[in-house]
Amino acid sequence: MITITGAGGLLGRTLVKKLKEAKTDIKAVYKKDLDLNNRRQVNKFLNQLKTDIIINCAAITDVDACEIDRRLAKRVNADAVAELSSYPCVFMQISSDFILASNSTVHPLNDFDLCNDKYRPVNWYGRMKMRAERFTKLNPHHYIIRTSSIYGECGKTFLSKLPDLLKNNQPVKALSDIEITPNYTGDVADFIITTLSKNFGVYHASNAFTITPLEIALQMKAYMKSKSEITPISIKDLNLKAERPTNIKLIPSDNYKYNWQDSLHLFLDGIINQTNTTSKN
Ligand SMILES: NC(=O)c1ccc[n+]([C@@H]2O[C@H](COP(=O)([O-])OP(=O)(O)OC[C@H]3O[C@@H](n4cnc5c(N)ncnc54)[C@H](OP(=O)(O)O)[C@@H]3O)[C@@H](O)[C@H]2O)c1
Repeated sequence: MITITGAGGLLGRTLVKKLKEAKTDIKAVYKKDLDLNNRRQVNKFLNQLKTDIIINCAAITDVDACEIDRRLAKRVNADAVAELSSYPCVFMQISSDFILASNSTVHPLNDFDLCNDKYRPVNWYGRMKMRAERFTKLNPHHYIIRTSSIYGECGKTFLSKLPDLLKNNQPVKALSDIEITPNYTGDVADFIITTLSKNFGVYHASNAFTITPLEIALQMKAYMKSKSEITPISIKDLNLKAERPTNIKLIPSDNYKYNWQDSLHLFLDGIINQTNTTSKN
């Protein structure tokens, strides 16, 4: 039995769908069933749980909200992970490239137990994701899957929402002075499933390239034949609460091999076809 927390989120939803398709015995746990902010609820949940594997996809992923409510972010993104990972089963935690200091590149096999200048998160979200990794490592049967800039169907992230704006020819503002590494939620979910048959440890579910949101918006626009006007903006214009790390890179694990453009096109095709079906109805 595999228990998936955060089953209603972008990654959790995809993982649940794929595991169900593979006829795996799963328990999908949503925020309404288990609020990680409620310690008593977590304890009660764990006392009643019978599972072989927990995959924790739940987190507060709004980086600026984490900076504003640090107590909540610490509770949900780190301290609750300590409780989940102490359950006697295999535990998989989804982590983030935001645990890195700016100008850092890391290989999953050179983990240095996080005692290295490369692991100096610049914001509270990153600090709490790193704290969660430390807790996860206390479970001898752990996997840590680090990923970055996930996009996909019904996601809340900029790249997830962009195709809908382009489809409707709406104006788009896209950052031109930061670089990200986009990963399709379907690829990350497939990688997670195959990793469950590998040795315990740290894995990087992330592509090997970086691109600005502006560049990827232009690529999406061309592919979708959209008439949207795309305006470059600077991260400074957004007055964000949380600092963002710059020039960070997770070196992909050997078995993370997906053609990112094929994945992007698969995602966009789904949205284009959805448009056509809707307009026919
Ligand atoms: N998205 C990215 O670009 C990205 C990049 C690197 C790493 N990650 C990591 O990947 C994992 C999955 O993220 P995602 O992209 O799927 O994000 P997401 O769509 O925001 O999903 C996170 C899920 O966690 C739930 N959640 C939030 N607070 C909770 C609480 N107190 N108790 C229980 N559940 C709670 C959310 O529910 P509500 O939506 O109802 O609040 C949501 O269903 C996270 O660990 C994240 O840190 C994500």
